[in-house]
Amino acid sequence: MLLTREEMAFDFKGAKFDREKDRDLLAWIASQFLYGEFTGIQIGHWILQAPDMDSAKFLARQCIEELQHVDAFKEFFRWLGARPVKVHRVVKLLSTESSTWEEHCALEMAQGEGFVAMIFYALLATLDDEKMVKKLDFAARQEEGHIEFGEEQTKKLLERDPRWRKRLLGLHLLSLWAIKRFEKWIARRVDMNHPVMSQLPQYLDKIIAVTELRLTRLGMLHKPLREMGGFEKFGAICRSLAWKFGRKLAFWNWFRRKPRLTDVYMNDPYLADVMSLKAVKEGIPLAA
Ligand SMILES: [Fe+2]
Ligand SMILES: [Fe+2]
Repeated sequence: MLLTREEMAFDFKGAKFDREKDRDLLAWIASQFLYGEFTGIQIGHWILQAPDMDSAKFLARQCIEELQHVDAFKEFFRWLGARPVKVHRVVKLLSTESSTWEEHCALEMAQGEGFVAMIFYALLATLDDEKMVKKLDFAARQEEGHIEFGEEQTKKLLERDPRWRKRLLGLHLLSLWAIKRFEKWIARRVDMNHPVMSQLPQYLDKIIAVTELRLTRLGMLHKPLREMGGFEKFGAICRSLAWKFGRKLAFWNWFRRKPRLTDVYMNDPYLADVMSLKAVKEGIPLAA
């Protein structure tokens, strides 16, 4: 990952949730997670867009891992003695599926899985049950692998075609804006005197600071967010949205199909060694 776990973790200063007293609150938090994990399972369809064999293998593995996370939260609900409740619309918005492979890697994987990992870390720090913490820690480590994949793909994309920076930056800023809105919503509905929840504003600031650092290290953000005025941020969001929807509406894009792995597999590095064998048999000189 471009950031270490230590850089991403928030210090709750020893504050803990109480399984009995905080049952409803924990059930609400876990329900938002459960929704995210179910959207994670749907990652499977991105295999149609996988540009190479390594990505295809990664997506197949990720699909299994997200299924395991659903099981982890099922166990969490059993441990808690509670039932899942309805998910908040901001969580649905943040889990909205992207329309392109590039958006998927940057927004859902590098940034979105980054949010997920940070909430995992928060649960690990504030739950008072060793067994449950161990189970969730296992899932958190797998999420770190998902972030890493998104970061690597996004870095490659920006090196290959720097125009994607402006196309994606506004969408990243839009997600951060939604998180700030979410803070206000939670503050109105949750007991903010709770030892964990009272730290929510600082915790969400940390999520934003960590995301900013990731975007900077990715090369997506060229200056600190505080140096970007409201008008500049709004302009960046409008530009990204205009590009996203303009591309969707452009009629030539309806007929354009991106090459799939089945079109390009012969040139995939994964087959390089057997392709060389074939060349040897046919007497074709090996490439230097
Ligand atoms: Fe997950
Ligand atoms: Fe994930």
